[in-house]
Amino acid sequence: MDNREELYKRFRIFAVPIYYLQRIYALWRTETAQLTTAVVGTIVIGLAAYRFAFFIWSFIRPSTLQRYCHVGTGSWAVVTGATDGIGRAWADELSNRGFNVLLHGRNPEKLNRVKKELAAKYPRRTLDTVVADASKSDHPEQALLDKVNQLPGKLVILVNNVGGAVVSPAYQTHAAMAPSSIDTVLNTNARFPVQLTSLLLPILKENKPALILNCGSATANFGIPYLAAYSGTKALIEGFTRSLDAELECEGLGKDIEVKCLTINNTRSAGNKTEMPVFTIDAGELVRGSLGKVGDGEVIEFGHWRHAVQAFVVGLLPGRVLRGYLLDQMRMRKAVEEEEVAKSR
Ligand SMILES: NC(=O)c1ccc[n+]([C@@H]2O[C@H](COP(=O)([O-])OP(=O)(O)OC[C@H]3O[C@@H](n4cnc5c(N)ncnc54)[C@H](OP(=O)(O)O)[C@@H]3O)[C@@H](O)[C@H]2O)c1
Repeated sequence: MDNREELYKRFRIFAVPIYYLQRIYALWRTETAQLTTAVVGTIVIGLAAYRFAFFIWSFIRPSTLQRYCHVGTGSWAVVTGATDGIGRAWADELSNRGFNVLLHGRNPEKLNRVKKELAAKYPRRTLDTVVADASKSDHPEQALLDKVNQLPGKLVILVNNVGGAVVSPAYQTHAAMAPSSIDTVLNTNARFPVQLTSLLLPILKENKPALILNCGSATANFGIPYLAAYSGTKALIEGFTRSLDAELECEGLGKDIEVKCLTINNTRSAGNKTEMPVFTIDAGELVRGSLGKVGDGEVIEFGHWRHAVQAFVVGLLPGRVLRGYLLDQMRMRKAVEEEEVAKSR
């Protein structure tokens, strides 16, 4: 066997790919192929640039929130779970933007303290409170309807904020959750906001234009261990928001009642003390970003640009890598919580 034959035998597995590469290269060198590549490339880059510009614009465009501040006798917003965390931030920022706020919570002392603090900060606003335990299934939302009916002005904004893991421990296997804990999670995150929206919709329709903001969570879209019931309720809130928006449009109210579900990622609050580098934000930042989104025509979206960038970056990861990362993160959170509980005993 001469040298050439020996070489051919050794490298013949490369022969077929090399042959096709040569053919493709020859084809690509023709004028038609180069023109087609240039046109397709320009379209792809143009679309990417358009999407990027649209993304930036969606975070810097002026909000149309003030459209809802239209009642001479006072425009009211109701914020559920307003005594802490993101709910308190909603109440603060809405007062700042000219709305009177009905604060909902389960703890009368905490409610009065927040009311006092906000009244001192915004002396021109009227604040009121209503107590109702959202985790119960005996129609606690009725108390909010009764209170709304007594307001001196008109209700124009409903913020369905109350929720979270709301049980202790927050991270546990679904099988380990007590039936009463599962009910607490389902009632607080799903039953209460869905029932409350149904009760208040006729009032919002009468007082139109009106706005409904629902608090969603990124847990709805990723498989998050140790939070199965909670994640499920957030998926429900997304589906509920989408359907309600479509229904209002069907009923000719699409322009009068805006409905939005804000997807929330890690945000510092009473219920979430965990930190993720770069992407964890303060409740105030989240709320200001979210109010900036009012009027942009999107139904489900991230309220803050940092959370949107995080979702984009995470979306670039291969599925298995992302899953592995999420599982590690959640194992760690569960272990940290268990350690804290053990220390406090
Ligand atoms: N923080 C995050 O990273 C994050 C991420 C994704 C989604 N979210 C969503 O954002 C919303 C707010 O979360 P957060 O982190 O601000 O929660 P948080 O800090 O735990 O505050 C929850 C608020 O709801 C109230 N609340 C809890 N259970 C209640 C009940 N049974 N009846 C009446 N009021 C009740 C709390 O009252 P007390 O003061 O009496 O406890 C508090 O005012 C939730 O819908 C949550 O799912 C948050």
